[in-house]
Amino acid sequence: MLDLLVTNATLPDGRRGMSVAVRGGRIVEVRPGLSAPAHDTVDAQGLLLSPPFVDAHFHMDATLSYGLPRVNQSGTLLEGIALWGELKPQLTQEALVERALAYCDWAVAKGLLAIRSHVDVCDDRLLAVEALLEVKRRVAPYLDLQLVAFPQDGVLRAPTAMANLERALAMGVDVVGGIPHFERTMAHGAESVRLLCELAARQGKLVDMHCDESDDPLSRHVEALAFETQRLGLHGRVTGSHLTSMHSMDNYYVSKLLALMAEARLSVVANPLINITLQGRHDSYPRRRGMTRVPELAAAGLDVAFGHDCVMDPWYSLGSGDMLEVAQMGLHVAQMTSQAAMRQCFDAVTSVPARILHLPGYGLAEGCHADFVWLQARDPIEAIRLRATRLGVWRRGRRIAHTAPATAHLALEHRPAFTSFMPAAAGPQAGQTPA
Ligand code: FE2
Repeated sequence: MLDLLVTNATLPDGRRGMSVAVRGGRIVEVRPGLSAPAHDTVDAQGLLLSPPFVDAHFHMDATLSYGLPRVNQSGTLLEGIALWGELKPQLTQEALVERALAYCDWAVAKGLLAIRSHVDVCDDRLLAVEALLEVKRRVAPYLDLQLVAFPQDGVLRAPTAMANLERALAMGVDVVGGIPHFERTMAHGAESVRLLCELAARQGKLVDMHCDESDDPLSRHVEALAFETQRLGLHGRVTGSHLTSMHSMDNYYVSKLLALMAEARLSVVANPLINITLQGRHDSYPRRRGMTRVPELAAAGLDVAFGHDCVMDPWYSLGSGDMLEVAQMGLHVAQMTSQAAMRQCFDAVTSVPARILHLPGYGLAEGCHADFVWLQARDPIEAIRLRATRLGVWRRGRRIAHTAPATAHLALEHRPAFTSFMPAAAGPQAGQTPA
């Protein structure tokens, strides 16, 4: 007897009419047209069943703090950092936990079940670290929260940051972070990369650094990150986040850099919603997009994910935990409009970030965790186009969220009373409500 059988599903790789059988929180079989007794059966009606969304780059200590203590007037990265500095002394653990848990609720509703969040370690009290470790423990039954020790004010620039970062790792934070472009000089940035990668190598930790988050075409920290990764044998364990300066770098230099990054098996996280709003702020016109070179990095064989980065915080006033919104913005900013590239944008918020996080048991295959999202779309491209409704979200075989299908009811003569945004006949029909 199965616990759950999902039938007639379309999978992200294009297989149709697929059944997914679940027992004991794991997927035990995936094949077409399976019928077997189960405690719960769901007809997916030919719609998309995907592994859950994964966000490889977020700031859960700042989320939902928009307007505290004031709004970012210029909208720039540097005013955001200054504003966060004003807010930090006012933070309480209770408020941090409450906001983070609220965001995790939003995430679950959108089928986002794994998040890598940076947590600022530059406050000597490590309040945010304690709060997010508590949140990680509380959400563990339904959401994987991976934490990065992030020295927001610079690990060399802020006098206690390195000691705090090591304390945070000892408390249970998973990943070593950094922000070399915020150190005082390019040389200090390179030194910070070396020190932090050596720390990660000593402690067997993954690395994820905010790196070259500027429009400076001469910023060179990702080169240092690739070099240290290769020197210390950290291949496949290091992520460069943002890398927005690559947008502005000289093309010849990038042709050399891509090979160095591929040699080190670096991963990359672009944050399209944030990059498109924060970068290019010193430009008149033409104004640069600022997002890193996503298609070229992927073509060089690197894992490139799209992250959300911020939701309603000092740096970004919008957002809702919807990784399809993130993918849609990434698709537009990178001009990834071919069929293959649009599918790649869906992978950039699902399977690729799952690899970057080293998430165990991720995927729609036998033996994987029974975690998946049922979308009101027939394929990944339609899911991005519609930012499709999450009809159901399952974690370890248990449905933990569902949303009614999106329908529009028209009051127009000679037109049907109901319209679907999916042009062909497949999918939920007028008046139907998927179970
Ligand atoms: Fe960030």
